[in-house]
Formats: sequence, structure tokens, C-alpha cells
Amino acid sequence: MFSINKNIKQAHTLPALFYKDKEIFNEVVEKIFSRSWHYAIDSEKIKSNISIAPLNLLPEVLDEPILFTRDKHGEAHCLSNVCTHRGMILVEEGSKSRIISCKYHGRCFRLDGSFKSMPAFEQAEGFPCDDDNLPHVPFEEWAGMLFTSLNPAVSFKEMIRPIQERLSFLPLDTMIFDASKSKDYHVNANWALYCDNYLEGLHIPFVHPALNANLDFENYAYEIYPYCNLQLGIGNGGADSFDIPKGHQDFGKDIYAYYYWLFPNIMLNFYPWGLSLNVVEPTSHNTTKIRFRTYLYPEQNANFEDAPIDQTEMEDEWVVERVQKGIQSKMYKRGRFSPSMEQGVHHFHLLIQEFLA
Ligand code: FES
Ligand SMILES: [Fe+2]
Repeated sequence: MFSINKNIKQAHTLPALFYKDKEIFNEVVEKIFSRSWHYAIDSEKIKSNISIAPLNLLPEVLDEPILFTRDKHGEAHCLSNVCTHRGMILVEEGSKSRIISCKYHGRCFRLDGSFKSMPAFEQAEGFPCDDDNLPHVPFEEWAGMLFTSLNPAVSFKEMIRPIQERLSFLPLDTMIFDASKSKDYHVNANWALYCDNYLEGLHIPFVHPALNANLDFENYAYEIYPYCNLQLGIGNGGADSFDIPKGHQDFGKDIYAYYYWLFPNIMLNFYPWGLSLNVVEPTSHNTTKIRFRTYLYPEQNANFEDAPIDQTEMEDEWVVERVQKGIQSKMYKRGRFSPSMEQGVHHFHLLIQEFLA
């Protein structure tokens, strides 16, 4: 379909067609989103034993009904939320129920997904069997959040390891979600254009004057890992920066933010006050929902200012929506990469190629 040269100095970007073709988008859903890891819910939602929390994974696109539970032994499970009898959706709201019971014909399941009972099936032969249990969905818990994947291409632990190691000095498990500082944005553009924009700092001086004033642009740095990458935002001394312990590789640096991206659509922006999680959810081939979720360290509330994040988001949407229009042009085919400032975008395009192959 297209090829991305591994040598960034020679490589061309993804072609315009990638961002606008519906069939390519369907292929992306099948080969990328159904195999990648998704942010699902916060662990808080199933904190206590005997709790149930349903959700639809990537609602407009994968639309997979799943269920997180914590059973009476304290063990968490991620299950299909579809009854194994005739396919009824089982749970529509979070609850503290001990049993998952189907409202259609009364089939019951335990919180670990195992079949418990079903009326009028006494004469059914070979029943119940494994297929009558709710299928388990892979999931992982990290930094107070639950991630899931329908059919993971890569292990989550492998993916997250570079972040886990680099940020081990931070009390990530203590972060608390703040709904008042969280919101969804709707962007009229293909999801990958939003990611492309996120993955380079080249546009910062042009598009984000206020952010640029806090950064030392000369020292803005990129690091590429197998399935994630980092943009290291070095401050210019004016803004709050991380308190980094002696012996850490970043000790002595004035770090304004660690901007981490997990393939394909999760952005973990760590600031001294906590985390801004951005989940880029395609809602169609040319529309995207961006979920901004704010997590604060308990003692850091006072240092949080949400206005700059909102302003930066508006500036990014402005530019991404204009690119969406621009790539419809019959005269635009594809571009090239800045070898010094667009390694992150190049990495993203290589991974897309690898997954679609
Ligand atoms: S569909 Fe659930 S019991 Fe029939
Ligand atoms: Fe930006």
C-alpha cells in the first residue's frame, strides 16, 4: 500500500490517502485498534471487592462491550459483557452485585465470569461447558489505571517498561483523577493526524507561543523505544520543574514535562503536578474524540493550572483540522520528515506500516 523508509533522512511520510480512505481506516481498526492496548477505566472504579464496571471499548469504532469486575477474593477480571446464551448485553451500569444475571432469560454468572445457573436447561446435553462462561479479555493495571486489549500484539509490560523505569522516582500510584479538570474534545480530523501533530515539537514555536515561552526549545529531545516514545520538554527556568533524585539519568536537568506516547493513541504527559492523559479515540475515518483526563498528586493540587493545557489543545485542534482540509487537495501527496525534530512521527509511521503489513 505504501512504504516508509527506515532511514528518516530518506523517508517520506504516510500518503494523504492513508488519512482519508474509509477502507484503509477499516483496516486500521482491524489490524491496529483491535490488537492494541486501550486505556479502559481507573482502578478506583473496581476498588472494593464485589464490584462491576461495564464499558464499551472504542464505542464508535470497535464498540466491544466489556466488563471489569473485582470478585469476593479481591481478584480483578476483564470479561465479555455479552451473555453466552443469545447475546444480550449483560450489564449497563456499575454495581455491587454479587452475580451477573442476564435480564433476557435469567442466565447467571459469577464475578470471575464462570457460568452459575440457567433456567430450563436441565435437558440440554453437554451443558454447561467452557463456552458458557464469559470470555476473559486481557488487561493490565498500571499507575491506578486499567488497560485492556482484545488481542494484544505486544505485551503491555514490555510496552510500558521504558516509562516505568524512567519515572520510578514518582509516586504514580498515588495520583487521583480530577473530573473537574478533565474533558473531551471533538476534532474534525483523522485520528492519526492528531497523533502526528503530537509527536513532534517542531510546531511548538509556530503554534504554541505560550508553551514555547516555558520551554528551552534548543534542548527539546526525542527518545524512541519499541512501542512508545518520549519527548523531553526541558524548561527554561521560568516554570515549575521536576524534583529529580541524585543518581537518576535526568538529575540536574530542568524538566518541564515528560511527554510519552504509547502506540497507537495514548499520550501520557507527566508534569510535576501529575499526569494529563490524552486518549485519541477515532469516531470515524475523519472525526476523533480526544479524552483529556487529569490526575493529580495529593499534595500538588495547588500547583495545577489547567488554562495552559486548554489553550495548547485549542491551538493543536486549529492546526490539525486545517491539515485535514489540506490533505484533501489533489495536489498534496505526501511529505518528508525533519531528521532532527520528527523522529517521533517517523516512528509512528513505521509502526503503522508494521501493523498493516
Ligand atoms: S440471552 Fe442471556 S439468558 Fe438468554
Ligand atoms: Fe501541539
